Amino acid sequence: MRVCVVGSGGREHALAVALARTAEVVVTPGNPGMVQELPGGGRISITDAPPEELSAGLFVVGPEVPLVEGLADRLRAAGHQVVGPGADGARLEGSKAFMKELLAEARIPTARFGVFDDLAEAGEFLRSLSPPWVVKTDGLAGGKGVLVTDSLPEALKDVEAKLSGRAFGEAGRRVVLEEGLVGTECSLLALTDGSRVLPLLPAQDFKRLRDGGQGPNTGGMGSYCPVADLGSAEVDSLMELSVEPLLFALRRRGIDYRGVLYAGLMLTEEGPRVLEYNVRFGDPEAQVVLPLHTEDLTAVLSEVAAGHLRTEPRFSAATALCVVLAAEGYPENPRRGDPITGIEKASSLQGVSVLHAGTDLDAEGRLVTAGGRVLDVVAEAGTIGEARHRAYQAVGHIHWDGITYRSDIGAEVPVA
Ligand code: AMP
Ligand code: GLY
Repeated sequence: MRVCVVGSGGREHALAVALARTAEVVVTPGNPGMVQELPGGGRISITDAPPEELSAGLFVVGPEVPLVEGLADRLRAAGHQVVGPGADGARLEGSKAFMKELLAEARIPTARFGVFDDLAEAGEFLRSLSPPWVVKTDGLAGGKGVLVTDSLPEALKDVEAKLSGRAFGEAGRRVVLEEGLVGTECSLLALTDGSRVLPLLPAQDFKRLRDGGQGPNTGGMGSYCPVADLGSAEVDSLMELSVEPLLFALRRRGIDYRGVLYAGLMLTEEGPRVLEYNVRFGDPEAQVVLPLHTEDLTAVLSEVAAGHLRTEPRFSAATALCVVLAAEGYPENPRRGDPITGIEKASSLQGVSVLHAGTDLDAEGRLVTAGGRVLDVVAEAGTIGEARHRAYQAVGHIHWDGITYRSDIGAEVPVA
């Protein structure tokens, strides 16, 4: 079968590799580093043609923006099989205010919050909360629209910058203010065909730019899977708490949601709380969840798209860990065009693969940086300690001017 993956980042590369085990994969627009013949005979190609102009037996939409803009609706209207919700379901990610409304309706635990477009009212609400203060854009901001701070003046300044439209344009003209939660974060991704919903392995994502959880929020600087403390009993209870009631609430609104439902959770002392939902695979969670999946992904996702999910996702017993290599200046103002070296050496190490998130070829045909998150180094091994060791050994071979990464991905996890 021919499968079309929509998007161009590391998540889409990971999807393409997993699908190419059993399908011919074309990625639009993709990036040149994705083009490859895989050892098992699979093939990944890229094209500039928009998805609406391509023919494929299955379309898998990677990022949230095209979903919010109704790409899945347009493809379905043309008779295609699609993994990803229509614009109605994608609002869950496109508007945090809508998400919070559904959470309340489904009685799913979340942080105390308020939604504001007026500066004075927002300030009053912030003063009624205790620190840390959390300020979010209502609309999409690529994972960068969230400020968590212990400084009330900083929170107030951020609200002003967002509401005025200076910081995030239209996405920030309405803000969601929240009480800050303390605990361990985890990403629980599930596949749903609109009525049945099955969990994938839980993963952990490192959102801050710098070691020790310092620096600004990013799209994600690294990840690992599975999360040691979350076995199948814990996952089942998280599904019952945070995913199943949400799907029920969507169905009650007449929304036929087929794709990935991703709950971003904070495991607090008072119990799990939902921070957000995403309507697609996480990036960089997909990079560590998908390599461990042992079933035929093309077949499973075809079932999701067709509305009859039957195959239970199954996983190997290994651990996967991903270190994101970013450009200097990420997330605010990433530098582009720096030549990259060392990928071949890095990916020749046992259990290591290098995925392309933001690369391009320059006029001389050299591989150069072309985005904020540039490469993902993924390592698989029997233990998280070994996966971490392999990943950082591979990272050591890769170079460009201004390369930026965290050195503590997976480090706080007890090593078996
Ligand atoms: P979100 O896009 O809503 O998941 O927020 C991005 C990141 O900000 C989360 O992964 C958390 O690390 C942090 N965050 C969001 N909401 C809260 C909260 N209420 N309390 C503490 N941290 C939060
Ligand atoms: N890794 C977080 C996200 O994909 O939104």
